[in-house]
Amino acid sequence: MKNIVTTACLLLITLYSCTNASLDDLTDNNPIPSTVTYNAHVKSIIDNNCISCHKSPPANGASISLLTYTDVKSAVQNNNLISKINGNGPGAQMPFGGPKLPQNLIDIIEKWEVDGLLEN
Ligand code: HEC
Repeated sequence: MKNIVTTACLLLITLYSCTNASLDDLTDNNPIPSTVTYNAHVKSIIDNNCISCHKSPPANGASISLLTYTDVKSAVQNNNLISKINGNGPGAQMPFGGPKLPQNLIDIIEKWEVDGLLEN
């Protein structure tokens, strides 16, 4: 009997603590940088999420390479990269067939365009 009570108490404590977001959960650990540049912020996002298809030459049906600064800048200017990562087309949402990028990464790429598509 004592064991059941103890287990029930532990369960309640666990459930209760799950509903309480810690300060860490509420703090934005990835604030948007004041100036976004390709080398400092954008390249790693593209490398981690896009290069499996957008390499050179492109694979899996992708039409363009996103390997270099010039490639990615040109895709923002000419190939709707920003609307594609937002899923509001034209064509398929990117990453193709995968989950949408986390919003903070989309925000960084959008700010890169606003900041002038700087390389460094
Ligand atoms: C699993 C493979 C795959 C991944 C990963 C992927 N893409 Fe694509 N991408 C494609 C395919 C296939 C197309 C062509 C279909 C289309 O345009 O709807 C494409 C097309 C595009 C285009 C349009 C090119 C054109 O010809 O106008 C852009 C821009 C693009 N992708 C950006 C991205 C970005 C940015 C990422 C990462 C966030 C990404 N893609 C990840 C497969 C992929």
